[in-house]
Amino acid sequence: MNQLQQKIISAYKNRFSNKPIVVCAPGRVNLIGEHTDYNSGFVLPASIDKAIFLAMSKNDLGIIRLHSVDMTPDYVEIPVSENYTKSEISWSNYIIGVVDELKKAGHKIEGFDCVFGGDVPIGAGLSSSAALEGGVAFGLSHLYDLNLSKLEMTKAAMQAENNFVGVNCGIMDQFASLHGKKDKVIKLDCRSLEYEYYPFSWDDIRILLCDTKVRRTLDGSEYNNRREQCEKGVQIIKEKYPEVETLRDVTHRQLESEKDKMDDVIYARCLYVLNENKRVLDACQDLVNEDLIGFGDKMYESHRGLKKNYEVSCRELDALVDATKELNSVLGARMMGGGFGGCTINIVKLEKLEETKAAIRDYYKKKMGIEPDFHVAKIGSGTHLVSKSIETESIENQI
Ligand code: GLA
Repeated sequence: MNQLQQKIISAYKNRFSNKPIVVCAPGRVNLIGEHTDYNSGFVLPASIDKAIFLAMSKNDLGIIRLHSVDMTPDYVEIPVSENYTKSEISWSNYIIGVVDELKKAGHKIEGFDCVFGGDVPIGAGLSSSAALEGGVAFGLSHLYDLNLSKLEMTKAAMQAENNFVGVNCGIMDQFASLHGKKDKVIKLDCRSLEYEYYPFSWDDIRILLCDTKVRRTLDGSEYNNRREQCEKGVQIIKEKYPEVETLRDVTHRQLESEKDKMDDVIYARCLYVLNENKRVLDACQDLVNEDLIGFGDKMYESHRGLKKNYEVSCRELDALVDATKELNSVLGARMMGGGFGGCTINIVKLEKLEETKAAIRDYYKKKMGIEPDFHVAKIGSGTHLVSKSIETESIENQI
């Protein structure tokens, strides 16, 4: 049992007396395919070895009792209800949002206790909130014998974020956290929800995350605004091509033919999405060919599109990507996630990892006056049960 797990279990024992199950719910990275999920496009994420652990058990009190090991205020009690409302304790909304979605789907969720915490940096773009939501769906399915599939858990987790937390996110983060596999990236078609695993493991390569230390939460209106701009583009194209439902259905030729009917910003947003979808497919082919140089080039192109056409980057993210341009130890770098802060993702040669970090640190410090944080992410298993009850401590990796 790792230290983190132990910490969560002892926090649980200090507060509650029932025997909990323990769920491990990882954060995620996304190699390529940004802002494509809510446009029914392609993404290429993976779950990582940084996770939230949740110790959970039912209680007979008709109360949901929640304790966060890392956040303040750290405790909240919410009566089981037919009508949940958003709380001022923002972290509790990720949990109650899932309860509310499961209730809407006809599942009866009574009182339970949950203690959680982990090492997914919060607000860094590694989807700590999706991990929590997915972990809660997984844990409740287990406690209440709901027999939910991982896809059903994913949907409940995403809808919790959309309907309860109020962020209109796509499906990628929750999907990746729940469905990840060790050493594999997931090519997910966000329209059909078909997915395929591609190997992503090389002894001499590491995934390096460079944290700008700039924190912008997703409920900032920019994210929802990008979604609306894409929908606006679809509306315009649809007038001429009624078969078009989302940007996924739009060809470059169709977009060009309708360009004059839309303002430049809408055109740029649509163009980025079309290009990014193609880049994901091409990048998957690079993985099949073991061409990490080609793969890395597409990451740089993705960043350029996100910066210039989609305009979700920021000076700090650009500086971290620029810092790598002269480094031949870095095969690819780009901003990752919603944007406006958080981390860049970099594919780096292991033998030069330390000097790469030092060069990025120097560049960023000079340019921005801040020390970046670094995380080396290993691709780990998706959400799974770590122990059925802390007494038996049976390790059950459901991969
Ligand atoms: C956030 C959202 C995802 C996705 C990314 C951008 O992480 O939660 O659904 O849209 O931004 O690719």
